[in-house]
Amino acid sequence: MHLKPTADNTIVLKSAREIAIMREAGKVVAETIRALEEQAEAGMSTRDLDQIAARKFQDVGAESTALGYFGYPGHICVSVNDEVVHGIPGPRKLKRGDLVKVDVAARYHGYVGDSTHCFAIGGLETLSDRARQLVQVTQEALFHGIWQARPGNRLSDIGAAIEAHVSANGMNVVRDFVGHGVGRNMHEAPQVQHHGPGGRGPVLRPGMVIAIEPQVNLGSAEVRMLEDGWTAVTVDGSLSAHFEHTVAITADGPEILTLRDED
Ligand code: MF3
Ligand code: CO
Repeated sequence: MHLKPTADNTIVLKSAREIAIMREAGKVVAETIRALEEQAEAGMSTRDLDQIAARKFQDVGAESTALGYFGYPGHICVSVNDEVVHGIPGPRKLKRGDLVKVDVAARYHGYVGDSTHCFAIGGLETLSDRARQLVQVTQEALFHGIWQARPGNRLSDIGAAIEAHVSANGMNVVRDFVGHGVGRNMHEAPQVQHHGPGGRGPVLRPGMVIAIEPQVNLGSAEVRMLEDGWTAVTVDGSLSAHFEHTVAITADGPEILTLRDED
């Protein structure tokens, strides 16, 4: 989500019963992402991907939380190559070697799951070595961040871990967007920055559920918005990767609600 100057700071804790429902919502989102990755191929349009997700939501009785969000026109976001986030599905045809980010958020039985996966049309082997590293480092950085999502840590420990891994690999974390609490609504408090310093913000507690979603650029961290009012692209045209999971903080540590077996 966009970094917002003001926000309701109240973090709504979820009960074990609510987290059980969110596990189901997370599974719907994960299965949708699996279908998208399996079916995406050269020659398809980004709107075709949107339709795959829309059909999946309809089949299982879920609803997109992107559609109609501040007037957003798609069921999912599909961002390609230098597009960082919130790409609107449309007639753009996918090509072999395109780096695709599908951001899927849906409500199921009253609760939301939100996850983003990044893959290449034709497989990761179609990418340059550096682009493949970008994908790998971004996914690793997300997992480093998730690892910090445990009781007793502070919120900004998550971003600090993400940024440390990205910087160590000579890449840059985008600062214009943040992760967020998730629950009955797609966007709840707190906002989750993907950069340091650590040791700041609320102490993490069991029952918090957050979406962590670093976007990482091979070049400058700066982004600009296209005229459509949604799509953010890198200012220098460099490639960008994005991964996201919805994570419940439990007494035992992080539980990834949108995990797929292959992650
Ligand atoms: N994971 C994205 C976010 O939190 C989902 C965006 S849906 C949209 O920003 F409607 F806002 F595009
Ligand atoms: Co999100």
